Amino acid sequence: MPIDADEFRRCLGSWPSGVTIVTSRCGDRIHGMTVSDFSGASLSPPLVTLCCNRDSITTGLIAEGKCFAVNILATDQQELSNRFASKKLEDVRFEGLECDTAETGAPLIPGAVVNMDCSLIATHDAGDHVIYIGRIEAAHIHERAPLVYYGGAYRTLSDEATD
Ligand SMILES: Cc1cc2nc3c(=O)[nH]c(=O)nc-3n(C[C@H](O)[C@H](O)[C@H](O)COP(=O)(O)O)c2cc1C
Repeated sequence: MPIDADEFRRCLGSWPSGVTIVTSRCGDRIHGMTVSDFSGASLSPPLVTLCCNRDSITTGLIAEGKCFAVNILATDQQELSNRFASKKLEDVRFEGLECDTAETGAPLIPGAVVNMDCSLIATHDAGDHVIYIGRIEAAHIHERAPLVYYGGAYRTLSDEATD
């Protein structure tokens, strides 16, 4: 074993990321979860990747519905991030949220910095996770500060750009 699980978690915790809620729909079923393993993949065509735990409900729904929305969370959406990560709150995640519906059918989280509507175009196995590649069908950008996750804690950006 080249690295133990705790050490690997510490490595990953040293990588600052944004926080997203990824939602999906299949028929009249909607679901979503908090995801930080999100990245851009290609500019032309516009593609993104997600890394999703095989056991998550959202992962299964994306495979069935062949679509997902990536909602980049704002600094004041920490409570939503915790709610969409909590198994106990699995059935009430969308409670009180007035979500618009994207073209693909995926719910769009209000108050996010960016909402991206994606069609699933490829799936790759990655150990206990699945890598999804999505093509962006539409995006909405809002002038809000993003929530940051680093070292197992939520943060906000405090530095000015250094040019
Ligand atoms: C900050 C943060 C980031 C997370 N990032 C991911 C991720 O990238 N991929 C993933 O599969 N789970 C991630 N999770 C865990 C899921 O949100 C969590 O397991 C959720 O309960 C799965 O929900 P579901 O089974 O109802 O779909 C993250 C949790 C937190 C708090």
